[in-house]
Amino acid sequence: MRIDIISILPELLESPFSHSMMKRAQTKGLLEIHLHQLRQWAVNEYGQVDDYQFGGGAGLVMMCEPLVKGIEQLSHDRTYDEVIYFTPDGKTFDQGLANRLSMKQNLIMICGHYKGIDQRVRDKFVTMEISIGDYVLSGGELAAAVVTDAIGRLLPGVLNDETSALFDSFQDDMLAPPVYTRPEDFRGWKVPEVLLSGNHRLIDEWRQEQAMKRTQEKRPDLLGD
Ligand code: ADE
Repeated sequence: MRIDIISILPELLESPFSHSMMKRAQTKGLLEIHLHQLRQWAVNEYGQVDDYQFGGGAGLVMMCEPLVKGIEQLSHDRTYDEVIYFTPDGKTFDQGLANRLSMKQNLIMICGHYKGIDQRVRDKFVTMEISIGDYVLSGGELAAAVVTDAIGRLLPGVLNDETSALFDSFQDDMLAPPVYTRPEDFRGWKVPEVLLSGNHRLIDEWRQEQAMKRTQEKRPDLLGD
């Protein structure tokens, strides 16, 4: 999979993609991430990419030309499955959307700032608008990092058996069960007996029960009616 991210602050995204799973995905050649500074397509020599909004009101709007030039230049070399724009009024990101996006080949991600991007770019080029939650971030970069991470770890070969995404929370609309490690007894607080039993059938049953209990307690909405 290839992800091209257009941003006025691409430096913000360097660290999130340079460690752990995202690093592994790229080293293994399973994920290519290309960061693009929007100002390379600026409308003048001062690097301008935003302007005041028509109709008045506080806050700048990211202009059509730099974004469209960027999208068109990238699209010249390959076909993109989606052009994603991160915005609080987009569709709320969840595991289902992560699963679907992880099956795509090429994605463009646009990180907005200020009051957002000119509506014409959204109308003519953006194919998917994503929000990572009902709160406002100062820019789309952190949303791009969240979504790329959630997608990248699902690519076949990124996780090994032990970290397999099959057992993640949300993967079957259930939260993951509690986990424990050594020691068996810490300050008198003991690990549930069943986990030490070596009986895999009983352990699986316990985990399923616990997952259900946890989901009922913390996220009953996931269980539907
Ligand atoms: N940009 C600003 N806030 C955002 C959010 N909640 N999700 C995605 N992009 C955003």
